[in-house]
Amino acid sequence: MDKKLETLKLKKDQALLGGGQARIDSQHKKGKLTARERLHFLLDEGSFEEIGMLVSHRSTDFGMEKENYPGDGVVTGYGFINGRLVYVFSQDFTVFGGSLSETHAEKICKIMDLAMKNGAPVIGLNDSGGARIQEGVVSLGGYADIFYRNTMASGVVPQISAIMGPCAGGAVYSPAITDFILMVEHTSYMFVTGPNVVKTVTHEVVTSEELGGANTHATKSGVTHFACTNEIEAIQHVKKLLSYMPQNCEETAPALPYDASDEQRPALNTILPQNISQPYDMRDILQEVIDEGTFLEVHRDFAENIVVGFARLAGRSIGIVANQPAFLAGVLDINSSTKGARFIRFCDSFNIPLLVFEDVPGFLPGTDQEWKGIITNGAKLLYAFCEATVPRITVITRKAYGGAYDVMNSKHIGADMNYAWPSAEIAVMGAKGAAEIIFKREIITAPDPEAKWKEMEQLYSDTFANPYRAAERGFIDEVIEPAETRKKLIKAFKMLENKVVNLPRKKHGNMPL
Ligand code: HXC
Repeated sequence: MDKKLETLKLKKDQALLGGGQARIDSQHKKGKLTARERLHFLLDEGSFEEIGMLVSHRSTDFGMEKENYPGDGVVTGYGFINGRLVYVFSQDFTVFGGSLSETHAEKICKIMDLAMKNGAPVIGLNDSGGARIQEGVVSLGGYADIFYRNTMASGVVPQISAIMGPCAGGAVYSPAITDFILMVEHTSYMFVTGPNVVKTVTHEVVTSEELGGANTHATKSGVTHFACTNEIEAIQHVKKLLSYMPQNCEETAPALPYDASDEQRPALNTILPQNISQPYDMRDILQEVIDEGTFLEVHRDFAENIVVGFARLAGRSIGIVANQPAFLAGVLDINSSTKGARFIRFCDSFNIPLLVFEDVPGFLPGTDQEWKGIITNGAKLLYAFCEATVPRITVITRKAYGGAYDVMNSKHIGADMNYAWPSAEIAVMGAKGAAEIIFKREIITAPDPEAKWKEMEQLYSDTFANPYRAAERGFIDEVIEPAETRKKLIKAFKMLENKVVNLPRKKHGNMPL
């Protein structure tokens, strides 16, 4: 047995070294951790159980039979994060640049299958040169096997992708299907075709960082949900993100103990600016309402006219969708609609109740938006709300104009409780524009058209720029003092705790993609 144990140790030691010390040193020189170091920081101490440590590739072309590294460029297995089971894969750049071979893909598929059978999240730490060039089509097949599993797992178990190095070509489509992407500034990038191909095809000269670095995807494309300054920060973010999620679609997210002492928030009574056209930061309101320090904003730097993220209310995990008057007056446009829709669908998939804060002047006008499809894209937000069966509550702080009133989780599309502050204005449009249209004749024929316009604007405003017409109809359940918002929301979410809605039987809907 001693000899056999020695052989086992030798093999394991070899696997632990990945592509060898020189390549590990080179990885460190680039400011990157190794695949195993990343797992060490991600998982509870001593909890990692590796699966497939000795798997080797089967390739014999181009002298590959002479180069074989146990593990084949990816470390896979399971472990615990804050005591909760997760399945992980961590690509090892020191072995053939973390490139994906047939067997490398099989290892990832194996842990994904286990995650599905056992109902636990999958976390992928990506650092790979893409398809293993020496293997050709079997590598492409391996990618497709993963894409298929990503899709099957979508909405069943949470899937998180942290990009810690290159992720290019078709390889980007696995993270793209997962629920959340995190990228590390300056050491990771994602693109379908790299700078060289771009130069050849479009003659654009662009660096990898500009084309597909963390900041590019966090601000311009919205591909990544988080841009992190370093790998440790990215790993901490993954852990925090998981804390708001259940293990799978059959469960609810873990709740924290809650001390019900300070539910009244007087500061909210004076938080809105006096002038109704003046912007304010919706996050200031959110901070007053949620449990202190619990907001985890998602997509912070993309489509800033809508704010989405996780928080806790009385210890329970909730998803927040809020118009942001501080950016483009909180108008809805293509990017904010898709950002909101994707977040809503995640929350709904995983039984995370939705809280909406509304102050929206409408949809953004203009040829740019129309030609790029604000109709189809705005409909995504509408569709996502309509379809969501989790507890849903809306608070209108100020404007709720036009179609945006309907879209932003109105009673009509299935919200459970709709509150408005006394400052709410629920109307087809702003009073000035409305007066100009419906009192056109009176204004033109008046001796002083300007004064008449003002008078009619006031009339429209007095009639509709308030929450009471909607409250009379029951579209608003209660007009509340802002200071009471937190208290009301805690009670209402508790009341909705056992909500059950059965959607009509169908294969699946055909949402406007
Ligand atoms: C096999 C690869 C590899 C790959 C890198 N290596 N990429 N081996 N297949 N795809 C190996 C290198 O030979 C090298 O081996 C080691 O990994 C490190 O690579 P370097 O080039 O030295 O590292 P670096 O300078 O940091 O550059 C990293 C890189 C570059 C930018 C990722 O390696 C690169 O451009 N690789 C090719 C990327 C690519 O075109 N992939 C295919 C994309 S198509 P040694 O022995 O020297 O350590 C694709 C299709 C997927 O992925 C389709 C799915 C549908």
